Amino acid sequence: MLEKKYTEKTFTLEILYHVGVYENSIHFIFDHTSKTCAIIDPAWEADLFIQRVNDKGYQLTDIWLTHWHGDHINAVDEIVEKTGAKITAGINEIPYLQIKNKMHTVNDGDTMRLGKTNAKVINTPGHTAGGICYLLDGHLIAGDTLFVYGAGHCSLPGANSVALYHSMQKLKQVDDDIMLHCGHDYGSKIETTMNEQKHGNAWLVIDTQEVFVKFVDDMAQGLIAYPTDALKLKEIQAML
Ligand SMILES: [Fe+2]
Repeated sequence: MLEKKYTEKTFTLEILYHVGVYENSIHFIFDHTSKTCAIIDPAWEADLFIQRVNDKGYQLTDIWLTHWHGDHINAVDEIVEKTGAKITAGINEIPYLQIKNKMHTVNDGDTMRLGKTNAKVINTPGHTAGGICYLLDGHLIAGDTLFVYGAGHCSLPGANSVALYHSMQKLKQVDDDIMLHCGHDYGSKIETTMNEQKHGNAWLVIDTQEVFVKFVDDMAQGLIAYPTDALKLKEIQAML
């Protein structure tokens, strides 16, 4: 299993890639001071994740969700039952989430706190109705809202391509040097910055709603290929 680790002032971010049949990326945030851990979108391997946290001498106290899709949440109830971890999800995602245990809700601009580590909540609807991203010191955890040179589809209940366009305009406000971390490794590389994506990710490069919606619709119909590398606006316009 491919892993990466980023150590910041108050926390360490660890990522496990290609987990489960849909090859999800699982993000762990270890707060240095409190020795607590938040896991984002735990799916497929509950025991492995719990063991990983315990082996480091940390306590798994929090589960932060980006959106309702099963490949992001199917280990949540098992982890809660084994650890008592607290679940947090976006307020607009609650009606879609198939989770038995109690969930706490957050909304745009709220701050998640894990010991001395803070994460700002950014509502990014589009892939789902109430999807959220978590912005930490130096890192954006984006779930399926944004991939490396790609983005999540708009084909399941709650999805909306116009909403996704507006979410992309919000994500363009995230600082250039922030690293982007996605729910799946679908692009031509794993490590990227927001600056790199703002200049090559078609979903961020397209600057009008009309073109954006056509791009998403054409892709859903199989009329254009899903990109895994950087595209310029002229190249995108030529595809449509
Ligand atoms: Fe998804």
